[in-house]
Amino acid sequence: MNNLRPVGIIGTGMYVPEKILTNSDLEKMVDTNDEWIVSRTGIKERHIAASDQATSDLAYEAAIKALESAGMKAEELDLIIVATVTPDSMFPSTACILQDKLGAKKAAAFDLSAACSGFVYSLATATNFIKTGMYNNALIIGADCLSRITDYTDRNTCILFGDGAGAVVIGEVPQGRGFLSFDLGAEGAGGHLLTIAAGGSREPASCDTVSAKRHFIQMSGSEVFKFAVRIMGSATEAVLAKAGKTKEDIDLFVPHQANIRIIQSAMNRLDLPPEKVVINVDKYANTSAASIPLALVEAAEQGRMKEGDTVLMVGFGGGLTWGASVLVW
Ligand code: UT7
Repeated sequence: MNNLRPVGIIGTGMYVPEKILTNSDLEKMVDTNDEWIVSRTGIKERHIAASDQATSDLAYEAAIKALESAGMKAEELDLIIVATVTPDSMFPSTACILQDKLGAKKAAAFDLSAACSGFVYSLATATNFIKTGMYNNALIIGADCLSRITDYTDRNTCILFGDGAGAVVIGEVPQGRGFLSFDLGAEGAGGHLLTIAAGGSREPASCDTVSAKRHFIQMSGSEVFKFAVRIMGSATEAVLAKAGKTKEDIDLFVPHQANIRIIQSAMNRLDLPPEKVVINVDKYANTSAASIPLALVEAAEQGRMKEGDTVLMVGFGGGLTWGASVLVW
């Protein structure tokens, strides 16, 4: 893939809704406390979409900023991919809704479902479209409104999730820069560990499925935790090897923001000091597909990457899935 034209990030944008739900707010809703949440997850607060905001609205705000930062008009876009597990509706896709809102008339548009790994899966997909010459650019957005599928009476899950969107425009970049490698994978056998059971063709929505709360996230937290720790390490090593790099080459590590303890275990395994790691799980919690782009875009806005830096993104999520990428900024 690396003998084809180099593809990298040429614009970035992010958006989180205004409303903040703190740990002390959650103490009033379920039997939990700030000390437990911070020590077990690193989360202090999360942003929650307003009742009139859907995933495409969050995605739109991030997309406008990414286009502006790329110096591009929506009409120039060739492709839009929205990575999400909380589309506005079953169909049309959130990407099509966004295509219309943006006025990106010539762009092909589709959603990609790989849960928290969706942003990296989407980057890999679009990069290959551009490398092979089918398209010249793409708008990739990770956007989720997890508050809409969270049971706020279940303390095991409701403390973990937030809403947001992160967007990048990708296109041809100078030689020596851009995406060097991707490592995508799935262990479908573990799919039952993190699900929304109802609302699809297996278990269509009914009064019974609603009363049984089967439209909310159900998760075996400790099993997903073990998978996450294992995969963050192995996917990082695999994607570094594919790029011909070693862990010493990493200038900035951008992990999925699910739990500070998962991030710390990866930092230990890779001998990474805190200044090389992006952590914003304390402010945004786990925003699924938005998590990695929110971390990446925030780091870019804070000036934490300079031209030529080696950036490594890695995430895991429902499916079970994982995705990692090495990028020269
Ligand atoms: O994007 C991918 C999505 N998912 C994840 O990344 C999740 C990965 N998993 C995790 O992050 C962790 O497993 C959790 C944060 C979900 C849970 O942490 P844990 O250290 O694995 O705790 P646990 O589930 O083993 O629960 C320990 C105890 C239990 O009490 P008992 O049975 O030991 O008496 C829970 O009932 O903590 C209790 N507990 C709580 N206590 C206060 C569970 N949730 C809460 C809570 N507040 N919110």
